[in-house]
Amino acid sequence: MASLRGSTAVVTGASRGIGAGIAAALAGEGVRVALLARNEAKLKELSRTLDGSFPVKCDITSAAEVEKAVEMIQREFGGSPDILVNNAGIFGVASVEETSTKFFVDTINTNLVGPFLFLRSFAGEMRKRAKGHIVSIGSVADRTIYTGNAAYSAAKFGMRAVHEVLRAELRGTGVRATLISPAATDTDIWESVKLTDPLGRPHEKRPMLDPADVVRAVLFALTQPERVNIDELRLSHT
Ligand SMILES: NC(=O)c1ccc[n+]([C@@H]2O[C@H](COP(=O)([O-])OP(=O)(O)OC[C@H]3O[C@@H](n4cnc5c(N)ncnc54)[C@H](OP(=O)(O)O)[C@@H]3O)[C@@H](O)[C@H]2O)c1
Repeated sequence: MASLRGSTAVVTGASRGIGAGIAAALAGEGVRVALLARNEAKLKELSRTLDGSFPVKCDITSAAEVEKAVEMIQREFGGSPDILVNNAGIFGVASVEETSTKFFVDTINTNLVGPFLFLRSFAGEMRKRAKGHIVSIGSVADRTIYTGNAAYSAAKFGMRAVHEVLRAELRGTGVRATLISPAATDTDIWESVKLTDPLGRPHEKRPMLDPADVVRAVLFALTQPERVNIDELRLSHT
């Protein structure tokens, strides 16, 4: 395993769930981590427990806030990070007819436009350094459609497309790009989701992955020898 010690990283959606787990694992490997999300109190609480980390309050649906966050991160690290983990995301379930314009737009902005703004901000400098790693957290829904997932799948399919274009454009530059696509994982993202079958009857929660399973996949991709790019990892429950 390649060592990450002394590297710098930005983890979006670090205030809880999978992102908080990735941030903690990276800090444990000696990485200085910018913890980014909207909930500043949670970020501050987490940063107190993770050596070398600092909070970056940012709503990634606002291009102006992303710009300010990028400037702050570049000031703190003296340039772009070595690692970007585009993890922040939202999820909701509604039939196409019941999906509001607001929810559709919010989902696209959070799960597709926001991650694009971050990778566009950092990829150029990574390319100049011939070193860097951009990890996108996708979903099984970035390749397979599920009923009720119009907004989420539109964003995640789009994010997979952006990842694949990026991967092709970065080939041979020394900069790596990885898409990690987990199945249902036990985090707060499910809290507001009413699980029903196609007839609207309550559905039992299926067994889920643990956030730590996704964290291990991210670390696996990041710690490969520099010649190895893990293009894509798809995680499903046994
Ligand atoms: N859990 C699953 O079943 C599952 C499965 C496949 C893929 N994923 C993907 O994994 C990623 C993490 O999900 P999770 O399960 O860990 O969800 P989670 O526990 O709900 O955490 C989501 C994170 O995203 C942040 N976030 C949401 N909107 C944001 C915004 N506008 N600006 C900045 N940060 C924002 C949240 O922070 P604040 O609220 O503080 O801003 C939070 O830290 C997402 O991309 C999700 O699509 C999850």
